[in-house]
Amino acid sequence: MTDTERKYVLAIDQGTTSSRTILFNHAGEVVSVGQLEHEQIFPHAGWVEHDPNEIWDNVRQTIGMALGSAEANHHEVAAVGVTNQRETTIIWDRATGKPVYNAIVWQDTRSQDLVDRLAADGGPDRFRSIVGETLSTYASITKIMWILENVPGVRERAERGELAFGNPDTWLIWNITGGTEGGVHVTDVTNASRTMLMDLRTLQWREDICEIAGIPMSLLPEIRSSSEVYGYGRQTGLLPGKPIAGDLGDQQAATFGQACFQPGMAKNTYGTGCFMLMNTGTEPQLSDNGLITTVCYKIGDKPTVYALEGSIAVSGSLIQWLRDNLEIIATAPEVEALAASVDDNGGVYFVPAFSGLFAPHWRGDARGAIVGMTRYNTKAHIARAALESTAFQTREVLDAMEADSKVKLEQLRVDGGMTANSLLMQFQADILDTEVVLPVVAETTALGAAYAAGIAVGFWSGEEDVVANWAEAKRWKPEMEPAERERQLRQWKKAISKTLDWVD
Ligand code: G3P
Repeated sequence: MTDTERKYVLAIDQGTTSSRTILFNHAGEVVSVGQLEHEQIFPHAGWVEHDPNEIWDNVRQTIGMALGSAEANHHEVAAVGVTNQRETTIIWDRATGKPVYNAIVWQDTRSQDLVDRLAADGGPDRFRSIVGETLSTYASITKIMWILENVPGVRERAERGELAFGNPDTWLIWNITGGTEGGVHVTDVTNASRTMLMDLRTLQWREDICEIAGIPMSLLPEIRSSSEVYGYGRQTGLLPGKPIAGDLGDQQAATFGQACFQPGMAKNTYGTGCFMLMNTGTEPQLSDNGLITTVCYKIGDKPTVYALEGSIAVSGSLIQWLRDNLEIIATAPEVEALAASVDDNGGVYFVPAFSGLFAPHWRGDARGAIVGMTRYNTKAHIARAALESTAFQTREVLDAMEADSKVKLEQLRVDGGMTANSLLMQFQADILDTEVVLPVVAETTALGAAYAAGIAVGFWSGEEDVVANWAEAKRWKPEMEPAERERQLRQWKKAISKTLDWVD
């Protein structure tokens, strides 16, 4: 069989709460899915960890599940794409394959002291013109520093070149391609752009920043494009000889899968967090309004495409929190019925600053608040306020994006689990005063990684196939009166002001 005769591309989407493997056909349709959740480990307030071995085990199982339910043979797979939760930091031993510590997850705030230490000389923006973002606990840099400085023996082993760093993409590709028996140690430009160690223009690691942070460069993977053959599945594995040919951070993959190929096009993904990316073309644009400048994608040797990103830390995870911590719903989808059982939020605003506030505020000192409550309120108002918080945060990010890009967004392409919640999507259109558009294939994160891999091996010819396959499923139009929108936005701003300066 030649690559172009094979039927499927397999995409692995290693997310914050679960790992999924999806088989796509040539039309970009979902053929089968395997999905498993992994444990969220919270050792202390503000700490969030994952077990890298559990993630690798789960990914292997989901590959088996996806192939099994499609009754597909790995021979029918043309290529494999990987996409992942970004920033999440794993360091492991090259000889044994064992992680030296759990994965420190992107939401984790334990490294605030290291952020302050780096910012003490030059301020929080000292690296921003090179790497695109303000110092915060979000990027990988201070997570790597924390492991080097706090796990006994790790610094010495790293200096001897015995250890490897990676985000989940790198960890998975290393294991899939052979692990201790010749696994390739690579990442792509989009993931590397979230470490704060890569120069956005040269696409190379910055020796000076590594030195300031005390990070030995031997830890770092090789930086490659988002679409090329990095290596092949190990012969004894589930994907023997399959080209691993696509790698993008999950939000960049979704932007690619949403076919946002023209400057000014944007997508918003409602997952654990919520992330809006706007394609800004082939030059990196620095934000004046609290957004991150990031690599959007690079297809093989073609020019690098950049994006502005508004990252919101807590979105779907707030609904999980209502389920698991407040226990006011039994399953996440129940939130829609509970929220719809009241006409409005009853004056309640919920700012979920559980990891501080990300874009556009970047306030590590903020903590969550539910404000505006009276004796009248019920759990339904809290559920509604929780849902609405995602829409309000998205509005703040959109305002920043329009101010930076000078582009008025005509419509916002959306994807991710919470787009199934029509109450939220209508409120989103109302609060943005912009049309919100959902594609037929809402699995755009995995789809973007599949396209990158498929393009690398000739299964798809290029971006034109992605555009041709994209189709609209649903559209929500703004219906709210302008005065009501303005009133709600004023209340939201007041609520935000209550959460700041909370940490002593
Ligand atoms: O930057 C973190 C992001 O990549 C996580 O995405 O979909 O797992 O919430 P998600």
